[in-house]
Amino acid sequence: MCGIVGYVGGQSALDVVLAGLRRLEYRGYDSAGVAVLADGGLAAAKKAGKLANLEKELSDRPLPSGPTGIGHTRWATHGAPNDANAHPHLDNPGRVAVVHNGIIENFAELRAELTERGHGLASDTDTEVVAHLLSESFSSCGDLAESMRQVCRRLEGAFTLVAVHADEPDVVVGARRNSPLVVGLGDGESFLASDVAAFIAHTREAVELGQDQVVELRRDGVTVTGFDGAPADVRPYHVDWDASAAEKGGYDYFMLKEIAEQPKAVADTLLGRIDAAGTLSLDEVRIPASVLREADKIVIVACGTAYHAGMIAKYAIEHWTRIPCETELASEFRYRDPILDPRTLVIAISQSGETMDTLMALRHAREQGAKVLAICNTNGSTIPRESDAVLYTHAGPEVAVASTKAFLTQLVACYLVALYLGQVRGTKWGDEVVSVIRELSQIAGQVEEVLETMEPVRELARSLADKNTVLFLGRHVGYPVALEGALKLKELAYMHAEGFAAGELKHGPIALIERDLPVVVVVPSPRGRSVLHDKIVSNIQEIRARGARTIVIAERGDEAVRPYADHLIEIPQTPVLLQPLVATVPLQVFACELATARGNEVDQPRNLAKSVTVE
Ligand code: F6R
Repeated sequence: MCGIVGYVGGQSALDVVLAGLRRLEYRGYDSAGVAVLADGGLAAAKKAGKLANLEKELSDRPLPSGPTGIGHTRWATHGAPNDANAHPHLDNPGRVAVVHNGIIENFAELRAELTERGHGLASDTDTEVVAHLLSESFSSCGDLAESMRQVCRRLEGAFTLVAVHADEPDVVVGARRNSPLVVGLGDGESFLASDVAAFIAHTREAVELGQDQVVELRRDGVTVTGFDGAPADVRPYHVDWDASAAEKGGYDYFMLKEIAEQPKAVADTLLGRIDAAGTLSLDEVRIPASVLREADKIVIVACGTAYHAGMIAKYAIEHWTRIPCETELASEFRYRDPILDPRTLVIAISQSGETMDTLMALRHAREQGAKVLAICNTNGSTIPRESDAVLYTHAGPEVAVASTKAFLTQLVACYLVALYLGQVRGTKWGDEVVSVIRELSQIAGQVEEVLETMEPVRELARSLADKNTVLFLGRHVGYPVALEGALKLKELAYMHAEGFAAGELKHGPIALIERDLPVVVVVPSPRGRSVLHDKIVSNIQEIRARGARTIVIAERGDEAVRPYADHLIEIPQTPVLLQPLVATVPLQVFACELATARGNEVDQPRNLAKSVTVE
């Protein structure tokens, strides 16, 4: 949520900052702005709307070139997304510029104080108060990093701040509390950004900033302290992907590229974690085996798509390990006073590792003594750092706002955790689980097979572009898949889309069925739990009898559903619990194509941001 870039070095800061903002635009696109230090002064430009608007402004009214600069792409919290509220925000003489991600909760009080002291504030944002406070503090101490520390000690809420001052032309200062900020160390140049993607084209050497830390960035290195001024330890790391992973690579949209990358993402997430004998090795999960053996309850917390992965995990964990498992929306979790103790294992699932709701849920869990295992895609992000252990998904950077490859890898990670728990606890498994482990290790090939047969799905999506509503039904693990299909369609195609457990239909939602209403049904395998299959076939008949247009996703060879499917989307045969890995893919393709057909922005759906760092 909001993307921030800072640069000091030998290149044109404006060019580096703009290139970085292009990589971070997925984090918010309500407005964009930059500030550069040049010729002893500070020059800034900002524009509502996408980065392209700012770029146009800069080509009409160029800024001077200088070695130090900051930039911002905004997802609006306080104040409408207009030019005045765009970042950077400046103090009154225009010597300080600040960009900000997060929310400053006590801004009203600070604003009142500043107004009383004669400061005129030009925007409705919480950020502008920081520019004025920094300016005041700088005029007494003459040091931007010290000013930042003084100001941060007065702020409440979650924030990343990055600032420059015209009187310190070779310095950028950053601060973080509960919001992401990473440092990039180049050769004679240094970077700050919300995400390494912003500077990966220049350096792969990064440093994580901890909670309540301030960083002073100069060409030849960085100095990190706590808000109290005490020197802080920093953890340098090497980013293991390169700039090409953050490019579209010939695809029209990042989402298309990321859908296509799913077989590799799944294979990479499995790599080295199941051996030829079917033994799971998750040594990187540093929770002692005794904790896993003694856990008597598992609670999964996550949001949005990651929550759907958690819902599927519940079926797998309970079936394979017999440990009671609940999956809960992270945003609801801590407010209902959940019962947790040291024998509760909490699993927090997050692609970004920065989702505030999930972070707050895991903090609450740890305060109650529970152990927390994170499943995360972003190395060094806050959620894994604050957890007792982490299992990384290896999806690579996910840029499109709508999550696709991260979801599939979250599922893989959940299956691995469930099986590992069973293994550590010595659960007696029959042939079913042995064959699941074998099939899981080969599942990437089946995801690939699905991708090769998607043209009819795209055609169908285009034919439905003028519809207003699509419903999704599923049973068992097909139910969260239905929810995920509906979520993808809402966020991308802006259509009314709802997912239901097919068995619930007769308890209300069936009233929605009318002539020609498209209803997508995710059908479980006719093998194994065939009773479920029979029930859903009846559900399909019930809706078809009421005029629905049925779009049926079913296993290849499932002849029983064929007579009732107006459109049949066939997927490969998989074990029942693994079916979401193949059944979700057509729904991603369907939503992406429908969005394109309706003329929507696929990678940057309206009102959304990739990383939701506010509650
Ligand atoms: C939907 C989507 C969101 C995220 C949710 C959690 O396509 O991407 O629903 O899944 O905001 O984000 P993470 O996984 O980063 O915690």
